[in-house]
Amino acid sequence: MGIKMNYIPKLKLKTIALSIFIIQCTYAADDQCFSCHQGLEDRPSQLFVEDIHNKAGLSCSSCHGGNPNSDDMDLAMNKSEGFIGVPVSNNISQICSKCHSDIDYMKKYDSNIPTDQFAKLKESVHGKLAVNGKGMMLQCITCHNAHGIKKVDDPNSPVYPTNIPQTCNKCHGNASFMQSYNPAISVDQLTKYRTSVHGVLNSKGNIKVAECANCHGSHDIFSANDVRSKVYKLNIPSTCSHCHSDKSYMKAFNIPTDQFAKYQRSVHGKAVFEKQDLSAPVCNDCHGNHGATPPGIESISKVCGTCHALNAELFSASPHKKAFDEKKYPECETCHGNHEILIAKDQLLGVGKGAICLKCHSENENQKGYFIAKEMKKLTDSLIVSDSVANSMVFQAEQRGMDVEELKFKLREIRQARLEGRTIVHSFDESKFKEVTAKGFKSSDTIITEAKAAVDEFYFRRYGLGVAVAVITFLIIMLFLYIKKIEKTK
Ligand code: HEC
Ligand code: HEC
Ligand code: HEC
Ligand code: HEC
Ligand code: HEC
Ligand code: HEC
Ligand code: HEC
Ligand code: HEC
Ligand code: HEC
Ligand code: HEC
Ligand code: HEC
Repeated sequence: MGIKMNYIPKLKLKTIALSIFIIQCTYAADDQCFSCHQGLEDRPSQLFVEDIHNKAGLSCSSCHGGNPNSDDMDLAMNKSEGFIGVPVSNNISQICSKCHSDIDYMKKYDSNIPTDQFAKLKESVHGKLAVNGKGMMLQCITCHNAHGIKKVDDPNSPVYPTNIPQTCNKCHGNASFMQSYNPAISVDQLTKYRTSVHGVLNSKGNIKVAECANCHGSHDIFSANDVRSKVYKLNIPSTCSHCHSDKSYMKAFNIPTDQFAKYQRSVHGKAVFEKQDLSAPVCNDCHGNHGATPPGIESISKVCGTCHALNAELFSASPHKKAFDEKKYPECETCHGNHEILIAKDQLLGVGKGAICLKCHSENENQKGYFIAKEMKKLTDSLIVSDSVANSMVFQAEQRGMDVEELKFKLREIRQARLEGRTIVHSFDESKFKEVTAKGFKSSDTIITEAKAAVDEFYFRRYGLGVAVAVITFLIIMLFLYIKKIEKTK
């Protein structure tokens, strides 16, 4: 046999158990690389026992090259036999993709798994150059290991859903490592993730909740501000709804699956999808990225205030604050909803049809709020009437050719008071509301008076012109007669 003498004692030390084992692994027994290395009891061959590639009948030489049929070390591991030794850097991913990018090859193994991993990885944020400048900063083995590779649905795989957070966190939780690449990226994703519903259930073994790769992708990971990223603002709703709108996927969980459908119809959804307005919220602006809520928000009921600051401030100082806290009503959601938030119409206010105040106020229950709601709505309606009267007066003056530039500008003050009123409603304070609407009434009074004056002036001028023309005509005739008279006298 071609095995060198100095290895024979080692082989003799092989345990009986190992011999039985080799017999069991018929494929492996044919693989001289594997059987000799098993005798060496090295890590790679120990791990290879449970490797998916071993189970598929592949050899050490499938990756390392060489001749697996020779039990002679020098012949087996010979360059002329294609032996490459230990691959480094990009060579590693190239070796994996030799098979994994080859559809026809993979089909031979009845495998329908995708064949785009290397193409995607190269493009991704992880395909950037490593700090040593020698190749991509991540290779296939960073996430899958080199030996002992498992199917992705094997609970021992490092990319099995419950293991992924830890696999990503090897780097993403390592401050000094991340610093050397991009100091702007925080290193608290896992810590925060563990506070979310997703993270808590994941740590208990639930594989349906979102882990890092569900939200970011596995081979095609990009920075969040890259339009190709699954967490790019405009892509988030579909990333989340991939699970949350799937009735059968979410069946085991007792929560609705209509968030996306509702969100799409909301004022926020329309702003994002129809107007490309990136200042309006998508799912993660309200729910946070990794944590249970966005940073600095103790509860999701307070999230609206991060954008609608004035409304939130007024609400906090209003009588509703205490009342809602006591009854555990969420702040804004109680009146506006959460996913299907619509444009706030005037009808929301008051005690008429569609008024939200009626939900809790009536002539018998919480009466004071009932009467104040009624009064506020009356003021709103009057202001709307004043606005349209002022508008039509200015229009009449303009039709008569009067200069109304200034009045037109002033009309904005009424609209401003209307807008302010829609916000100051949240003080649920009658006198504050009156103060704002009073500004509008004052402007409309002034405008109506001035527009009337302009119309009057128009008639006055028209009348004045007629008189002047008559007088001048009269004078011309008199002058003509006088001249005739002088001519006659001559
Ligand atoms: C008869 C025993 C024997 C056979 C057969 C054998 N090897 Fe080895 N192999 C060794 C020993 C011993 C070493 C460590 C000695 C060394 O560093 O050169 C080694 C080292 C290696 C290394 C590490 C090389 C390095 O540069 O660190 C790789 C990779 C390897 N073998 C793969 C293979 C492959 C693939 C095959 C089959 C084509 C194979 N071996 C067949 C005994 C064997
Ligand atoms: C699926 C591809 C693949 C197969 C199959 C494979 N290896 Fe490797 N092996 C690698 C890669 C990639 C590295 C480089 C690992 C690294 O850089 O951490 C490596 C490294 C090694 C090393 C040197 C570093 C170390 O981890 O000790 C040895 C020795 C080795 N392999 C032996 C083997 C043996 C023996 C077998 C078969 C029992 C085998 N390999 C099967 C891909 C493979
Ligand atoms: C950043 C970590 C990461 C890297 C790097 C990585 N993978 Fe994966 N890979 C995953 C995750 C996570 C999954 C499982 C989730 C899924 O199915 O997308 C996976 C799944 C797979 C699968 C199962 C089929 C599939 O696509 O879902 C194969 C095969 C695979 N990877 C091969 C590779 C190869 C080859 C490379 C190198 C070109 C590579 N992976 C690099 C994380 C990684
Ligand atoms: C010689 C071809 C070949 C090479 C090289 C190769 N693989 Fe594979 N790989 C396969 C085959 C075949 C399967 C098994 C497919 C099956 O059984 O469904 C497989 C399966 C896998 C799986 C499990 C996918 C699943 O179904 O969940 C992963 C992960 C994987 N390989 C990663 C790698 C990595 C990482 C490398 C490089 C270090 C690599 N492979 C190198 C051929 C190869
Ligand atoms: C080997 C270490 C390593 C592993 C493992 C790793 N990453 Fe990364 N990742 C990095 C580095 C380094 C960067 C920064 C790249 C840069 O910006 O230069 C990065 C960037 C990212 C980014 C983009 C951040 C941004 O805003 O620019 C995301 C998202 C990301 N990784 C997610 C993941 C996920 C999810 C996993 C697990 C499936 C993972 N990473 C595994 C090292 C790693
Ligand atoms: C529920 C979906 C979701 C899960 C699960 C998730 N992320 Fe994120 N991740 C996001 C969103 C959304 C962003 C931010 C997008 C933005 O900035 O607009 C983000 C941002 C990032 C960033 C870059 C920004 C930064 O500085 O934080 C990294 C790195 C990252 N995630 C890694 C991870 C890792 C690692 C895990 C697993 C422990 C993970 N993510 C789990 C959705 C998720
Ligand atoms: C891989 C599928 C998946 C993805 C992707 C996903 N989720 Fe989830 N999510 C779940 C499951 C499953 C639950 C658990 C339901 C439960 O028990 O509450 C859950 C729970 C939640 C909860 C808590 C619900 C409760 O119980 O009150 C919120 C909020 C949530 N997800 C928001 C999001 C957001 C926002 C995104 C996108 C950034 C997202 N999810 C992406 C599967 C997913
Ligand atoms: C404007 C803020 C906002 C946006 C945008 C938003 N949500 Fe919500 N979401 C909430 C609030 C508030 C709740 C109620 C939480 C509570 O009462 O505990 C909620 C509840 C949930 C729940 C728990 C089950 C339920 O329906 O009550 C899930 C799951 C959820 N949202 C997912 C999503 C997804 C997916 C998106 C994006 C399509 C999204 N949310 C967009 C604010 C928002
Ligand atoms: C990320 C910032 C952001 C968050 C968080 C947010 N909004 Fe908005 N909201 C906006 C923007 C921007 C608009 C304007 C959309 C448009 O262009 O019509 C808007 C519009 C509205 C409107 C319609 C205004 C009108 O004129 O009638 C209401 C009502 C509203 N939001 C309520 C809420 C409530 C309630 C929450 C919390 C559950 C919330 N918003 C969370 C940014 C936000
Ligand atoms: C008790 C019911 C109620 C609550 C609670 C409430 N609102 Fe309103 N909201 C209204 C009414 C009524 C209107 C005005 C309708 C009108 O007159 O046009 C309105 C209008 C709005 C508008 C559009 C006007 C503007 O200010 O731009 C926004 C935005 C808004 N609310 C956000 C919020 C936020 C954020 C919260 C929580 C801090 C909240 N609302 C709490 C009833 C409520
Ligand atoms: C979810 C229930 C609920 C809704 C909806 C609601 N309120 Fe209230 N409101 C209360 C409760 C409870 C109190 C405290 C009990 C009280 O003082 O009558 C209160 C108190 C008030 C007060 C203070 C009364 C006082 O005693 O000084 C005003 C004003 C008020 N509400 C106005 C409104 C208006 C206007 C609306 C509609 C835009 C409205 N409320 C919608 C529950 C509600």
